[in-house]
Amino acid sequence: MKNYAYKINGGKKLVGEIEISGSKNAVLGILAAAMLVDGPLTLENVPDISDVRVMVELCRSLGAEIEMVDVHTLRIDPRSICTYKAAGPLVSQIRASYYLMGALLGRFGKASIRLPGGCNFGDRPIDLHLKAFQLMGAKGARPSDIDAGIVNLSANPLRGAKIYFDIVSVGATINAMLAACKAEGTTEIINAAKEPHIVDVANFLNAMGARIKGAGTDTIKITGVPFLKGDFVYSVIPDQIEAGTYMVAAAVTGGDVMITNLIPTHMEPLSAKMREMGYIVEDGDDSIHIYREPGTDIYATNVKTAPYPGFPTDLQPQTVVLLCLAEGMGRMHENVWQNRFQYIPELQKMGANINVFERHALVNGITRFKPATVLATDLRAGAALVCAALAAEGTSYITHAARIDRGYEHIVSKLRSLGAEIERVEYDSIMDDPEA
Ligand code: UD1
Repeated sequence: MKNYAYKINGGKKLVGEIEISGSKNAVLGILAAAMLVDGPLTLENVPDISDVRVMVELCRSLGAEIEMVDVHTLRIDPRSICTYKAAGPLVSQIRASYYLMGALLGRFGKASIRLPGGCNFGDRPIDLHLKAFQLMGAKGARPSDIDAGIVNLSANPLRGAKIYFDIVSVGATINAMLAACKAEGTTEIINAAKEPHIVDVANFLNAMGARIKGAGTDTIKITGVPFLKGDFVYSVIPDQIEAGTYMVAAAVTGGDVMITNLIPTHMEPLSAKMREMGYIVEDGDDSIHIYREPGTDIYATNVKTAPYPGFPTDLQPQTVVLLCLAEGMGRMHENVWQNRFQYIPELQKMGANINVFERHALVNGITRFKPATVLATDLRAGAALVCAALAAEGTSYITHAARIDRGYEHIVSKLRSLGAEIERVEYDSIMDDPEA
């Protein structure tokens, strides 16, 4: 099977302007939410990435009619959905397929869904999602009910409930919100996640006629409605993580980049850290200009990942790359995922000096990365390695680059427009893997 790598001839400053695409994590939730709607709708600012293509195919497999109006616009008619089952192999290709549990449970009172896939950073349980469904009256929601990898849920009726999450979970918050939209009565989600894409999914559903209050705070109240009208054009928010990745890429190459079509407040956890390190980060209304004054030193800092508005775990690997090129010792504490430092041996091949102790990475500053052939262990790790390769003088290969394309729209042309030398190179099998 053909696999491909990104070949990067690094050491060039990134200069110019770049536009951020629609948010991957928002659109995946919104596509599932669209499966609850009772009329046609249009979705704009949809990123052209492989996770979206998989989710669109999954929605089509339920019977939804989805037409691509242009590369970023989808016309969706969910009225033709005819099944509550999604148990094929596509489901395990992405994590966000688990949103179909909440959406189909809300629509049919039943859902039969294969367990999801996605990046592997240790245990990724769905016990909180199932607990929420169980509190809403669904049978089949105990972990022991999972049958050969399929979750079979049924509720008659699905009822609003008070749901307390003892851990803040993005996925469980969205799933509970989806199911609650059409449940009988009122649902209260306490200790809800507050990520920008939670608010975007709620705004989308409210535009369709749902009654959701408090999204973006830690208590969300949803009053169930029998019908979601559709007949609306909705535009997805910009991708916070794509924007942050380009901020890091600009910084580590000593570049000067204007990043547009983003929401600066979503970027504040990263912007604040970058300013603390010595970079100039200037907020516009919907843009950020990032550069470095000539002759200024860049200093290490300490970062802890946390649910929003804390520092996003999905920018942790890119930020470790940033810390590598700072003076002194920086610390990264990964609070959200158990095992999200799997990429560090790859970064060490590029000269990084990092010691990992459980959830801490101690990053000793180096003057430069060296080029190497490295493996994209997951989506964001792959993006971090791209940043390091852009900074390293010479030719690097990032293998298993399909993992990066799950979440970064047109990364090659975007980086080239800033002056990077990057191309996609194919190899036939693991035998021809440049890393072997
Ligand atoms: C989403 C994002 C992912 C991001 C993560 C945290 C999508 C498609 N993915 O993942 O990119 O890294 O948020 O910002 O939006 N947990 C449980 N039980 C559960 C669910 C979660 O213990 O039922 C734990 C997890 O193991 C983890 C923490 O809660 O330690 C946060 O996970 P969660 O917010 O649910 O992440 P995802 O929604 O899967």
